[in-house]
This record gives sequence, structure tokens and C-alpha cells, in this order.
Amino acid sequence: MEFELSEEQLAVKEAARDFAQNVLKLGVIERDTEQRFPAEEIKQLGELGFMGMMVDPKYGGSGMDTVSYALAMEEISKVDASASVCMSVNNSLVCWGLEKFGTEEQKQKYLVPLAKGEIIGAFCLSEPEAGSDATSQRTTAIDKGDHYLVNGTKNWITNGSTASVYIVIAQTDAEVGHRGINAVIVERDMEGFIVGAKEDKLGIRGSDTHTLLFNDVKVPKENRIGEDGFGFKFAMKVLSGGRIGIAAQALGIAGGAFELALAYSKERETFGKQIAKHQIIAFKLADMATDIEAARLLVYKAAIDKDNGRDFDQSSAMAKLYASKVAMEHTVEAIQIHGGYGFVKEYHVERLMRDAKITQIYEGTSEIQKIIISRGILKD
Ligand code: CAA
Repeated sequence: MEFELSEEQLAVKEAARDFAQNVLKLGVIERDTEQRFPAEEIKQLGELGFMGMMVDPKYGGSGMDTVSYALAMEEISKVDASASVCMSVNNSLVCWGLEKFGTEEQKQKYLVPLAKGEIIGAFCLSEPEAGSDATSQRTTAIDKGDHYLVNGTKNWITNGSTASVYIVIAQTDAEVGHRGINAVIVERDMEGFIVGAKEDKLGIRGSDTHTLLFNDVKVPKENRIGEDGFGFKFAMKVLSGGRIGIAAQALGIAGGAFELALAYSKERETFGKQIAKHQIIAFKLADMATDIEAARLLVYKAAIDKDNGRDFDQSSAMAKLYASKVAMEHTVEAIQIHGGYGFVKEYHVERLMRDAKITQIYEGTSEIQKIIISRGILKD
């Protein structure tokens, strides 16, 4: 078994690290405090090829593998999980979904500018009463012959006010359950589409999370992704890929907190020596390093499964479940190692702890990952 990254993968990791440490870090505390979207930084990420990383260059992407994408997500999330969730949704849920299941016309019209980072995409599944239970869609896309009439409300939508293209999951025929759900592409300037309230969040405060309202939005038939009724399976498939991105985000949040705690524990002295030389701190660092490495192996495994055309529903759910747990636990430990300094914004770890929590909630809560994993191991 080969555990070495290729030269190309290492170069991607280095480029992402350089951007995170030298560009994103500069204003990250202010953006978090002011809930300000990193618009300029996302534009630069697009120019560097990070917004359509896995897309074929013929559609404006960087043509990289999922491992490279996970490496970039990890490095960027060490510093700014608000920027990385925007990147994750655009790469995994929007670009990958369009490239894999979209028509050639949809790819030319939407995927090319999305992959180049010229515009941003959003994925609209969650509703006031349908988050985890994704088949219970109340938003409707009624078939009107040459178009769908979309009505409803979507909640907690990442990139809600900054996106230009929205993939919307909606019910066309409630009588046939999930087989009556479609995924349609809504453009921001379509009549009847309204960006609603912005959420005031615990973490990822720089990301742009909104309620969206659809009021008799006329969506042309050619904007449906896949066959009639394919919308639920489309959502499940892109979310499996999305979980690799979010697992890598959680890994990065944990890794960022670990790097800060390690550096601090070598600087800070108590009782006449560096705190890292006290066994109680050294053991905390050992536990953190071990759990982060285990999470990293699960994330790479899921990415490699996807790159090699193997089923990745299970491995991505495992990676997300475990990496998000590690992120939550070890950001708390990183604050503990920092003592009182960890409780103030200037030292970054309190933000990482707040950001960690969402990784146990979005793209399926930890409980949803356990449903997917247990169904996989219990099936005949
Ligand atoms: N790939 C392809 N098909 C799949 C699939 C997959 N990964 N998972 C399920 N399906 C298919 C099933 O085979 C089944 O098809 P058939 O009836 O033809 O056999 C159909 O879909 C229904 O599947 P289930 O019976 O398993 O569906 P369920 O209602 O029991 O739900 C679930 C399964 C896993 C719980 C699912 O509802 C789920 O993943 N929920 C979580 C949704 C989620 O992640 N929401 C987060 C919102 S997006 C977000 O957070 C983005 C953001 O902004 C950051």
C-alpha cells in the first residue's frame, strides 16, 4: 500500500497552504466578527484554479483528482472554514454534479464559468421541515410542459446571496415519493427568486448563509438535471462527494488547532519550562496528532475510492463522521492548552472551535452518517 503523495498533489497542498497562511489569515478574525463574506479571496481562489478543481480542463476546471481537492480543503480550512465551505459547495455539490450528470448545454452555460470561479454556485436541498429527511421536500417544481413552476422556501443555503446559479431540489410528483423529485438549475435573476434573511451563526460566520424564496419561478425544462425523477438520487450522489470535502474541512480545522496548540506549547513556559515539556500537555498533543492522522487516512481513503471509481458512500460517511468528531474534540483541547489566551479571538483557536461544530451538522448530521454506515454494513 502506497502512502506517498505525488509531486503534483504536494504542489497543490503547498499552494493552498501558502494562500491560506499568507492571504486568508490576514482578515479572518475581522470577517468572522463582521460576518463578512471573503469575496475578494474567493475570486483569487478561482483564479488559482481552486473553485473547479476536479473539473476537466475542457470545461474550465483544473483536472485534478479528489485527493488534491481534499488536500486543498484541508490547508484552507486550517485558517478559514468560511472560505472553504464556499469552495466545497462549488466544487463538490455544484461543479461535480453538473459535470457528472448535466447535459452538454448545461456544462457549457453553467459549469464553465463556475469551474473558472467567475461565478459561484449554491446547492438548495434543506428546507424548514426537510433537512435530514431529504425525501420530505415541500418545495415544488410543477411540470408545465416546456417549463417547471418552482415554489417554496429553502433554508441554510451556503453561498445564498453570492451565488449566480442555484441547483434546487424540488418535488414534481408527491405521489411517487423520492422518484417524483427533480433537480433544476435556477438562475439568480429569474423572476420570482428572492434572497431572504441571512443567518447569524455560531461559526463559519464569514460564509454567506441565507433563506431563499421561490415564488412562481419559471425554470425551462432544459434546466432539469438528469431524467425526470432523478433529483433525489442526484442529491444523494453529490452529497456523498460533498462529504469528502466537508471531512477534509473538519480535518483542516482540527489540524489548524493542533498546529496553533503545538506552537503555543513550545513558546509558553510555566513552572520553569515550556508547557510542551509537561507530560500532561505532551500527552494531549500525542492524542491530537494520532486522531488527526487517523482522520486524514479516512479522508484520503474516501477520496481514493472516488478517484478509482469505487463506491464512496460508506467511506465518505465514515470520513465525515470521524473527522468532524476529531475537529470538535481537539479544537476544545487546543483552547485548553492555550489557557486564557485560547478564549480570546486573537489566538484563532476559539474561532476554530466554533467552526468545528457545523461539520457535525451540515451535509448530513453525524446521525445521518451513522444511518448510511450502518445500512451499508447490515445489508445482505
Ligand atoms: N447514491 C445513489 N442513490 C442513492 C443513494 C446514493 N448515495 N442513497 C440513496 N439512494 C437511493 C436509494 O437506492 C433509493 O432508491 P430506490 O428506491 O430506487 O432503491 C432512494 O435513493 C431512496 O433512498 P433511501 O430509502 O435510503 O432514502 P431515505 O429517505 O431513507 O434517506 C438518507 C436516506 C441517507 C437519510 C438521506 O435522506 C440523507 O442523506 N439525508 C441527509 C441529507 C443531507 O445531507 N442534508 C444536508 C443538506 S445539504 C448541505 O448541507 C450543503 C451545504 O450548504 C453545506
